[in-house]
Amino acid sequence: MSIKSATSEAIVEAAEILKSGGLVGMPTETVYGLAANALDGQAVAKIFEAKGRPSFNPLIIHVPDIESAKAYVEITEVARLAAHHFWPGPLTLILPRKEGCPVSELASAGLDTLAIRVPSHPAAQELLKTCKLPVAAPSANKSGSLSPTTPAHVHDSLGASVDLILASGSCDVGLESTVLDLSGEKPVILRPGAVTAENLEEALGVSVEHEQGDTDAPKSPGMLLKHYAPDIPVRLNAIDVQEGEALLAFGSDKFMVARDFPSDMRRNLSESQDLHEAAANLFAMLKELDQSGANGIAVMAVPENGIGAAINDRLKRAAQKD
Ligand code: TXA
Ligand code: MG
Repeated sequence: MSIKSATSEAIVEAAEILKSGGLVGMPTETVYGLAANALDGQAVAKIFEAKGRPSFNPLIIHVPDIESAKAYVEITEVARLAAHHFWPGPLTLILPRKEGCPVSELASAGLDTLAIRVPSHPAAQELLKTCKLPVAAPSANKSGSLSPTTPAHVHDSLGASVDLILASGSCDVGLESTVLDLSGEKPVILRPGAVTAENLEEALGVSVEHEQGDTDAPKSPGMLLKHYAPDIPVRLNAIDVQEGEALLAFGSDKFMVARDFPSDMRRNLSESQDLHEAAANLFAMLKELDQSGANGIAVMAVPENGIGAAINDRLKRAAQKD
């Protein structure tokens, strides 16, 4: 295992690793991905093994542009519109698999649809163009734990099971992509993200529904309610901090804790109440507080508007008890 800064040289090396069936930690604008050649079932199996992920959970296939996507999925009219507005970027589309699509059945868990996305991160773009392969990449963490937004998170969670981690600092968005199902009659958001329902409705000119994530058999299997979870309990909409708890603040936290409150038990998603800054900080701060020695995390309320809906979705999952 090695960690290398995502230079052109390291990207060529990463492309070779993918071609020979290995695993690469790939930076994207959302979170770091655990990448493998999507055409190679054995390489894809290594992803499930490394993550300890139930094999029924399908993966997102990453390609450099819409032209490449056409080889694997049926691009419907509404998909073309969505791609035009939001690719490259943090939007995953669920589309019918094209007849004869060579992507490993394991990668899409035997479904007749495929999740596909064009990431905007320059290193991901360069890697996809260099390897000339569709790349399956879930978030690069153990199943059920927090998604990684730094190379160190990938290393801590997956360590020796990755052949190479391409390091490129912290992810800009910090939350996984919006998953939009376009395989049915109406567009349905299976996982909220930085591309919001309002953004989609405006671009597509149709109404977009949200799937309820709290069913036992969710349509998007990755949306099991308990998913993004620190080890210690998470308490939402906190208006105080209880004995032994750490504080995850949003906006001013002056009234929450005393001035001598230990600094390693106190994080602020965004002092200026900027929701994009909060999204980018969310997973890293939850992780730091999880490791702070606190007995729980009190989280201040985060507004629901814009990307706030996606932040609250992840927070609810983090707070879900077993
Ligand atoms: O931002 C992201 O999307 C990151 C980066 C690395 O690209 N990837 C990511 O992948 O979050 P993953 O595997 O952790 O999440 C994929 C989500 C899961 O909720 C999965 O159930 C859903 O997409 N999914 C994949 N294929 C699907 C399909 N055919 N139908 C419905 N849901 C699908
Ligand atoms: Mg994940």
